[in-house]
Amino acid sequence: MSYPYQIKSFDEYKEAYQKSIEDPAAFWADIAQHFTWRKKWDTTLNWNFTEPKVEWFKGGKLNITENCLDRHIATKGNQPALLWEPNAPDEHNRTLTYSMLLEKVCQFAHVLKNNGVKKGDRVCIYMGMIPELAIAILACARIGAIHSVVFGGFSAQSISDRLQDAQAEFIVTCDGAYRGAKDIPLKNVIDDALIGNKTVKRVIVCTRTRIPVSMIKGRDVWWEEEMKLVEEAGITFIEAEEMDAEDPLFILYTSGSTGKPKGVVHTCGGYMIYTNYSFVNVFQYKEGQVHFCTADIGWITGHSYIVYGPLSAGAISLMFEGVPTWPNAGRFWDVIDKYKVNIFYTAPTAIRSLMGFGLEPLQGKNLSSLQILGTVGEPINEEAWHWYDENAGKKKCPIVDTWWQTENGGILISNLAGITPSKPSWATLPLPGLQMTLVDENGKEVFAEGDETVSGNLCIKAPWPSILRTTYGDHERCRLNYFATYPNMYFTGDGALRDKDGFYRITGRVDDVLNVSGHRIGTAEVENAINMHAGVVESAVVGYPHDIKGQGIYAYVIFNGKGINEALAKKDILQTVTRIIGAIAKPDKIQFVSGLPKTRSGKIMRRILRKIAEGEINNLGDTSTLLDPGVVEEIKNGKI
Ligand code: PRX
Repeated sequence: MSYPYQIKSFDEYKEAYQKSIEDPAAFWADIAQHFTWRKKWDTTLNWNFTEPKVEWFKGGKLNITENCLDRHIATKGNQPALLWEPNAPDEHNRTLTYSMLLEKVCQFAHVLKNNGVKKGDRVCIYMGMIPELAIAILACARIGAIHSVVFGGFSAQSISDRLQDAQAEFIVTCDGAYRGAKDIPLKNVIDDALIGNKTVKRVIVCTRTRIPVSMIKGRDVWWEEEMKLVEEAGITFIEAEEMDAEDPLFILYTSGSTGKPKGVVHTCGGYMIYTNYSFVNVFQYKEGQVHFCTADIGWITGHSYIVYGPLSAGAISLMFEGVPTWPNAGRFWDVIDKYKVNIFYTAPTAIRSLMGFGLEPLQGKNLSSLQILGTVGEPINEEAWHWYDENAGKKKCPIVDTWWQTENGGILISNLAGITPSKPSWATLPLPGLQMTLVDENGKEVFAEGDETVSGNLCIKAPWPSILRTTYGDHERCRLNYFATYPNMYFTGDGALRDKDGFYRITGRVDDVLNVSGHRIGTAEVENAINMHAGVVESAVVGYPHDIKGQGIYAYVIFNGKGINEALAKKDILQTVTRIIGAIAKPDKIQFVSGLPKTRSGKIMRRILRKIAEGEINNLGDTSTLLDPGVVEEIKNGKI
């Protein structure tokens, strides 16, 4: 498969960028024609950012799985589509060729249908990183059901909230999941999430760890038994459902600065075109290369760069069940050596954590297959960038620093590997189609004088094909969150610098969203969880710099009752957060306080709390507007 739209030089990039800005519709229509459509679209682009409304390729009919699977069968039926490396190095690995994957997807699509799933129904998928997860996703897409994957680390309460928000009637899960030394009892968590739930009709349970599970009559069925029925009937294919380009493909929940996580909705056509385009261009994918993205499919990175981007490009995508540090810190390097990985895409937090183990885990590992390295999810500090460059890439692999978000569907700012210049810890230039800008707090665009670097809030002035369309069930929330801060712009929530060459460096969130180990967590969400504990009166959560996680979670808590056992109370709070959200949201530090710094109108002054958590206790700025300035002294003295 060739990619006529693959950019081959910096000049070609500039030309493509120019064209994409002058006439976005013509630019993307040109790319879209290289995909399989049942019927061509009527209009390439309709949009306004006030409602907001964005439609790409409206009236076009397609099914994304025909683009990810069927169209490769003639030329690549026997080529691996998915390579799978299990958690434990001594367990058998698996390979699914394009033909095998298509067959399994079709068979599981029948299973979904046999269990009552129809086009437009929401299917919650809560599984570990096994090939069946990719199969379940693609089977939903095959029949036009909307998948909503929930990361395996979220708690029953989080799943319950998501099930309710999406009004999901179906769940696909596993008995359990292996992650490093841990066995996670997924089905038990689902059972807890379903207490009191009246909407879910069917739970399909795939076997992985075979821990004891309670299978409820009339509701729960085994994946393997359902598949057997289809296989025994000799069924190997199902006609793909015809979808409009603008029909929803999936919902993925992500955290914001307020309230509960929101269900970001992506649609079939635009998402397909953009994940493919960004995959082929950023990673400069070449036929036959092995692409290893270490993200979990529970996050957008896994959706776009393990499943849809690589498969739509006919690539070989490696899926890894385990973690980088188990059974030892050489695990990633072993996997790269074993599969002769060419493209390796991981998170700065993983790099920083591996740096801590020194060079010993790299010894004896043949990494000569590596050609391109990538990072995603958070800013990469220069030290980690150089370590990655020297020790993984041996200074011969371009590193792409890819900036994007769940709401974006695909990579928006990044160098193109070996094609456009890189600059350590800078995401560099926007991809074609992306009209980035920086604005001040009043929404006024800011520009540098001469050779200066300018700083501002990162916004986007026009839609690209995989921009979110809505937040599920609440379009107004979508408008308020992304399109209302600055008129006629999509606001990313990130701050950034831009240098004289137009390169961007992302400095981090400017709203109340934390980025912990590359995971997005809202401070309000963590506060709500802490406040659920019976002894907690009030809390305030801020981020602070953390050597490995990027950001750590610092919680200031007012606890009820004199003479409390602080150590025990802290453990209870951690347990509460684990119950309400999941272990990923557990505060790293908890400080008990008697009050919080508030303005006279009752607003918590987080700026002060953030500075204290960051250790800048002598530089707190103006505290004269506080209701009780004395509380600041107490908090400063008690800093952990
Ligand atoms: O703050 C930015 C950071 O991650 C946020 C998006 O998080 P999420 O939707 O979970 O998606 C993560 C994976 C795409 C952004 O608002 N972020 C992501 N990539 C980078 C980054 N910050 C700096 N550099 C990056 N390359």
